[in-house]
Amino acid sequence: MSVAITGTGLFTPPHSISNDDLVFSFNTWVDAENARNRDAIERGEIVALGRSSSEFVEKASGIQRRYVMDREGILDPKIMAPRIPERTQDEQSVQCEMAVAAAKKAFEAAKVTADDIDLVLVACSNMQRPYPAISVEVQAALGTRGFAFDMNVACSSATFGISTAKDMIAAGTVKRALVVSPEICTGHLNFRDRESHFIFGDACTAVVVERLDDARSDDRFEILGTKLVTRFSNAIRNDFGFLNRAAPEHRDEPNKLFVQQGRKVFKEVSPMVADLISGHLDSLGIGPSTIKRLWLHQANGTMNDWIAKKVLGREVAKEEAPSLLHEFGNTSSCGSIITFHAHRADLAKGDVGVVCSFGAGYSAGSVVVRKA
Ligand SMILES: CC(C)(COP(=O)(O)OP(=O)(O)OC[C@H]1O[C@@H](n2cnc3c(N)ncnc32)[C@H](O)[C@@H]1OP(=O)(O)O)[C@@H](O)C(=O)NCCC(=O)NCCS
Repeated sequence: MSVAITGTGLFTPPHSISNDDLVFSFNTWVDAENARNRDAIERGEIVALGRSSSEFVEKASGIQRRYVMDREGILDPKIMAPRIPERTQDEQSVQCEMAVAAAKKAFEAAKVTADDIDLVLVACSNMQRPYPAISVEVQAALGTRGFAFDMNVACSSATFGISTAKDMIAAGTVKRALVVSPEICTGHLNFRDRESHFIFGDACTAVVVERLDDARSDDRFEILGTKLVTRFSNAIRNDFGFLNRAAPEHRDEPNKLFVQQGRKVFKEVSPMVADLISGHLDSLGIGPSTIKRLWLHQANGTMNDWIAKKVLGREVAKEEAPSLLHEFGNTSSCGSIITFHAHRADLAKGDVGVVCSFGAGYSAGSVVVRKA
């Protein structure tokens, strides 16, 4: 039985921050810290903090700006974190609100209503609470049927979610699924870490998955196969969790936010992803020359260029592996889905492409699709 993606939706947060704005805030904080510690720095007891630069950020990552849920708090050198007020139990949670906005757009694209959906998967890097599951709140807010659950595979959450939905539809467990990824990455980004303060932005993507035979939208992409891989690594890590209060002396340390060894990740994950996609295409009997598009995870432009060239075995035009890094930054699990959302309208019936995410875990997910 064929299963297809029949609609996607994107929620874009209301504010945007340029590299210059972000770097100005970071450097204001660095200068103040270095002035505060001047004597200790002069005595050699403390190493002065290094300043950041927009040129470095764009050259190293391809990022020019990013959308965020809150701009003021992030850019205030005294705060350097988003300010998102806690809501009461009677209000929708922030992630639920983002998910509902993206889901409604995906429903419209797929020509379905909430009543047609019997599985909601909230698949993203961080849930704002452990329970009740955000997905069950989204189910109630949208009025979908059946059941819902949350899943977290960091940056690979959305592709793992699509794979899970496809398998449950193929098995007859559910008829139609919504996979939604409300990523508030700025909530777990350390804006005082020079190595990574520029990396993330916020967004939410939504994907409708159903049997090809049930599809009402003309914009259908049959899922030819999914392949998932994980390999343990500490090179991208976040130690925030419910046991932090059991070791309160470490509760506010930087490892309770996103920490990565960017170079190591670059070197180790790139070949892992190229092997995953090539092996997956091989197992499906699809040659690289058939591939019309690669919708890759959005973490680093150079990394994606390398992966695309390795998979296709030739130089790759920008349009073949589109990037939205310049506008969105890294939006974790939303990245590959945002490019799929924005860069598929020109494909013709029969065209084949690969949606591929990769990130912490390590984890990587490949979803091979054909325009139906
Ligand atoms: C994070 C990343 C953009 C950093 O780029 P990079 O080229 O590896 O940069 P490095 O960390 O090696 O730093 C290079 C130099 O720039 C400096 N630098 C680091 N941050 C800087 C900043 N914000 N401003 C100016 N200079 C900076 C470093 O100190 C270093 O200087 P040195 O050569 O004098 O030692 C890149 O490694 C990356 O994107 N990796 C992959 C991440 C990924 O895929 N993650 C998975 C999903 S989350």
